[in-house]
Amino acid sequence: MAFDMKSARHWAEELLRQAVGPGARVIDGTMGNGYDTLWLAELVGEAGRVYAFDIQLEAVERTRVRLDEAGLLPRVTLFHAGHERIAELVPEPVDAAVFNLGWLPGADKALRTRADTTLAAVSAALEKLKEGGLLTVCAYPGHEEGRVERDMLLEWAKALPSAQYDAMLRAYLNQPNDPPVLFAVKKNLRRHAR
Ligand SMILES: C[S@@+](CC[C@H](N)C(=O)[O-])C[C@H]1O[C@@H](n2cnc3c(N)ncnc32)[C@H](O)[C@@H]1O
Repeated sequence: MAFDMKSARHWAEELLRQAVGPGARVIDGTMGNGYDTLWLAELVGEAGRVYAFDIQLEAVERTRVRLDEAGLLPRVTLFHAGHERIAELVPEPVDAAVFNLGWLPGADKALRTRADTTLAAVSAALEKLKEGGLLTVCAYPGHEEGRVERDMLLEWAKALPSAQYDAMLRAYLNQPNDPPVLFAVKKNLRRHAR
């Protein structure tokens, strides 16, 4: 039977579909064109909420229009702010946090994610995760800053305490041009002493 090994975004989606259900709270750390924000808003349902971030007003507006057309704007809080402000701006614990690094397609590539703010953001997102919650990060090592981010995330994820977190990396090993990779971190349920 023919099958497809898929891409980092698909792998993230498969995991997120397990972690995010009706009523869930989710962070979209990089709203961009709003595709991820939209499908997350569908997944969380009417009782759920998505907190979405982008530094570019253009991204926020594109996302606002997309959500409005789908009738899903009421379930989403849009922040025209850097995701490094998650701790301050997200008012409650979340079931999942999603990052799709890089730049807004068709816009200025200089306004891309950067290793230092990405590190601050994923750390803050882990703090916000409920036990059993999931963080996914798609990183793009096909360009220099993306490689720096991938390497930084690798060191960060490897150092997470194994009793508290399951951290994994999924990546193609032999493809040209360094395709996107997926980091996924699950916050484990705390074992309560009897
Ligand atoms: C690859 S795009 C995201 C694609 C998006 N998830 C979608 O579905 O269309 C990356 C986005 O991250 C944004 N970005 C860059 N630095 C950021 C930061 N510090 N905080 C939040 N967003 C940032 C960029 O402006 C860009 O829109």
